[in-house]
Amino acid sequence: MNDCPILPTADKLKKGILLAGGSGTRLHPMTLAVSKQLLPVYDKPMIYYPLTTLMLSGIRDIMIISTPDDLPLFQRLLGDGSQYGVQFTYRVQPSPDGIPQAFLLAADWLDNSPCALVLGDNLIFADHLSTALQDAAQRDEGAVIFSYQVKDPERYGVISFDPMGKLCDIVEKPEKPPSNWAVTGLYFYDKRVLDFSRRLKPSWRNELEITDLNRFYLEDGKLDVVKLGRGCAWLDAGLPESLLEASSFVRTIQARQGLIVGSPGEVAYRMGYITGQQLHDYALKMGKTELGRILLNLVASDLKHGPMS
Ligand code: TTP
Repeated sequence: MNDCPILPTADKLKKGILLAGGSGTRLHPMTLAVSKQLLPVYDKPMIYYPLTTLMLSGIRDIMIISTPDDLPLFQRLLGDGSQYGVQFTYRVQPSPDGIPQAFLLAADWLDNSPCALVLGDNLIFADHLSTALQDAAQRDEGAVIFSYQVKDPERYGVISFDPMGKLCDIVEKPEKPPSNWAVTGLYFYDKRVLDFSRRLKPSWRNELEITDLNRFYLEDGKLDVVKLGRGCAWLDAGLPESLLEASSFVRTIQARQGLIVGSPGEVAYRMGYITGQQLHDYALKMGKTELGRILLNLVASDLKHGPMS
């Protein structure tokens, strides 16, 4: 998460949606009054982590979608994006009618562009993640999804592969999973995403399904999957135990390595979206926290030795 070689900002794909609505019923009563994506994952609000994933992809035009009650809280937390050198647009999802509804809600803003989508409760940590993300963001055509091996695939969309190892099907929450490879909540789509989303019909649970959207690309032979390997972590913080696991994971990495994961301020600086002075001002707002101290040290050390990659 901390490695971010500064590649040229993706020409092809510049927009990204951060979907942070939903009901969060599996985290009740914690989410009865507070949005799931505002709960802490160790020392930061959950939404910081998927936000940094989009920023590492080279995306600076970001729409944040949430419930009518929660959207003002995200606006208060994140502002207009200028502190991170990006632009935030906010939009309400009146009711949680499915993940691909995001594209329908964002139709005017999308303006026929390709678009990435990340779910607000998905945390991905991987070495060289930014290179893989920027590669996905620069594709001209088709869709790219990311997959991760889990021991409970029946909770997710699951990928099946043919004998040559080629992606051949995706099934949503199968009783008998064809593999252990789950589809993570990070997707990159070409400009046809809005047309495909308009063709979706609600499923038996009365939601538009992201798996159905991915199947349009699959049937067209234009769906690529990036397998996140052993050295990566994908955490979906939607259950009490996975929320705790995510916090412990972040704490362990930060305490052991003295590095930060999931700081939009740091990513903005490393990606060249803000200057050292801006990061310094941002770090001061973190007060006497460990996060603030590490960011101040980063700016001071870059002033002394020049920026490190
Ligand atoms: P889920 O975890 O499937 O749903 P949820 O967050 O409502 O939680 P629960 O199952 O405990 O009730 O959603 C995955 C992510 O997508 C999560 O970040 C919320 C977001 N989401 C929306 O913002 N709008 C939607 O319509 C749906 C279905 C999900």
